Amino acid sequence: MKLKIPLMKQPKSPFLDPKRLQKLIFTWFDRYGRKNLPWQQNKTPYRVWLSEVMLQQTQVSTVIPYFERFLQQFPDIESLANAPLDSVLHLWTGLGYYSRARNLHKTAGLIKKNFAGIFPETLDALEDLPGIGRSTAGAILSIAFKKPAAILDGNVKRVLTRLQGLTEWPGEKESLTYLWKAAIHYTPLNRPDDYAQAMMDLGATICVRGTPSCEKCPLKKYCIAHLQGIEKNLPRQKPKKKLPVRHATLFFYSKK
Ligand code: ADE
Repeated sequence: MKLKIPLMKQPKSPFLDPKRLQKLIFTWFDRYGRKNLPWQQNKTPYRVWLSEVMLQQTQVSTVIPYFERFLQQFPDIESLANAPLDSVLHLWTGLGYYSRARNLHKTAGLIKKNFAGIFPETLDALEDLPGIGRSTAGAILSIAFKKPAAILDGNVKRVLTRLQGLTEWPGEKESLTYLWKAAIHYTPLNRPDDYAQAMMDLGATICVRGTPSCEKCPLKKYCIAHLQGIEKNLPRQKPKKKLPVRHATLFFYSKK
């Protein structure tokens, strides 16, 4: 049963020493991280981009066959840019969120037209492309180009929210600013690709929604939510809108 303990608003916690956190994360990743997913082989920008877009709203096990079929039909950005949109949508059937497929096709066309078919390597240029938000741009830069760019997808948001003991809703503007600062602070200069993958893996396999497996977590000694015993209550859900209170005056007439 989920306990509904009211969470007190707490001041935002300072960040840990990034070197200490990175060491724990790398030791854990080397032992337990996923290294054999199809998009972890031959990590070209095209393959990383495609996998990140597919993984935005879909689980790893569902994505794998779609990823492989897609690459068979469209092995590179050129073939995707030249394909009719219908054939891209057809390959996407069953994966859902079809705007992802439309944006993928549009972006392939833009990279062909504006970048001579070569993936841009800056955050700004990547974020300008349809379907690539800040976190996906960070994942492409770190995983494909090995540049130290921060990521903050749903999994990493949950890890950092608990680690920092953030008791406000993470979707709040102020919370997001704080979480991005944390994400940047912890991103290492070396092995940014493994770090990004490790944080996503930690969120997907240990620091899961609901009841996380804190006993297996490399960050358990430092995780504020765990130390306070409130990990099941975090991340806090979006606060419900209060219904407006209307005041009215009621008159009674009595026939006498
Ligand atoms: N979710 C988003 N990106 C991912 C990745 N590279 N590996 C596993 N899960 C992910």
